[in-house]
Amino acid sequence: MLIAISGTPGTGKSSVCAALSSRGYAVVDLDEVARREGFIVSRDAARSTDEVDVEKLRKALRVPAKIVFLKSHYSHLMDVDIAVILRCRPTVLRSRLEARGWPPAKIRENVEAEAIDVILQEAVARLQSVFEVETTDATPERTAGAVLAILQGRTEGHEPGSVDWSHEVLSWY
Ligand SMILES: Nc1ncnc2c1ncn2[C@@H]1O[C@H](COP(=O)(O)OP(=O)(O)O)[C@@H](O)[C@H]1O
Ligand SMILES: [Mg+2]
Repeated sequence: MLIAISGTPGTGKSSVCAALSSRGYAVVDLDEVARREGFIVSRDAARSTDEVDVEKLRKALRVPAKIVFLKSHYSHLMDVDIAVILRCRPTVLRSRLEARGWPPAKIRENVEAEAIDVILQEAVARLQSVFEVETTDATPERTAGAVLAILQGRTEGHEPGSVDWSHEVLSWY
């Protein structure tokens, strides 16, 4: 079983995957695979991000175990059985990204993407099994627990649409 852990940068993918890993689960960092296999197509200097050839990566991806978590903000574009999209309240996400010292334009782009559900929409457009887990006020350990519960079928409250930032977005206008 392949499980995507996806979400806007700063929503908690690395922290949650570290918690899953310390519980003994196999985690594959897709950025690492992309770098190792030469699937970085260009470096976007203005946004200081690497662009990954997601299609090539999807076709080439081989996984090392029966249950594997794929980590990256494009893991929901791989051939996964389930995608768990981590979500974070946009105002809190802004603080998390500011703490990284990211340029304002890059922070804004990601906060807006989170606010309008970009990754969730991409995931539900191509996958049958998509769930959301909010990390705003949780710990990575609790979030890892929620992810594992979803895999055991305890999906209630995690259906697509269960996280809704529209009130927050409307308050910006
Ligand atoms: N429940 C949570 N799950 C994951 N990260 C959290 C959570 N609560 C707070 N955080 C914090 O948010 C930040 C998320 O960063 P990170 O895990 O690197 O996200 P990503 O890999 O999605 O960019 C970290 O500073 C982490 O400590
Ligand atoms: Mg990360």
